[in-house]
Amino acid sequence: MKSAILTIAVLGIGVGLAQAASHSQTPASVKARHGIMQNYSYSLGTLGDMAKGEAEYDAELAQAAADRLVALSAIPQTGYWVEGTSSEDLDDSRALPAIWENMDDYLSGFDELNEAAVSMAAVASDGQEALGPQMQAIGQSCGGCHEDYRMSND
Ligand code: HEC
Repeated sequence: MKSAILTIAVLGIGVGLAQAASHSQTPASVKARHGIMQNYSYSLGTLGDMAKGEAEYDAELAQAAADRLVALSAIPQTGYWVEGTSSEDLDDSRALPAIWENMDDYLSGFDELNEAAVSMAAVASDGQEALGPQMQAIGQSCGGCHEDYRMSND
């Protein structure tokens, strides 16, 4: 009998904690789009380090990073940029409200990134010197969108 009461009490605390956690939780759509961006960074970082000579050129790794950027930038964006998840709605979102006012322009940024990534993938195995010029195009695509649509850090 005692153990049954204890079990119920423990379950009660468990439910309470779960509710508290879900209340303050970041929506799954926001976490998912952050994950994509983090993967962009990882792949671009791999290529950038090789382009600058800070990491040894490795054709297989460079190709994998470029191919990954192509695939990631082709992922359908529908469902990521949900109404009510802007930087004004959530503490953990830096997505500016301008996104929802210019959705077509915003989404075209991912097509641009994809084009730049495809160009990178076409030459990524050709040697270290091939990476630099393509890095620029990709970097401009990331930076251009962030400038217009991502809240700055300061
Ligand atoms: C078409 C627009 C667009 C493009 C292109 C884009 N980003 Fe972003 N990025 C955003 C927005 C908007 C946010 C803020 C999202 C949020 O907080 O929900 C963001 C956030 C990020 C973050 C922070 C993620 C986090 O965990 O909070 C990183 C890192 C990032 N981007 C890297 C990149 C890199 C690298 C590229 C290029 C390879 C890139 N982004 C291309 C719009 C873009």
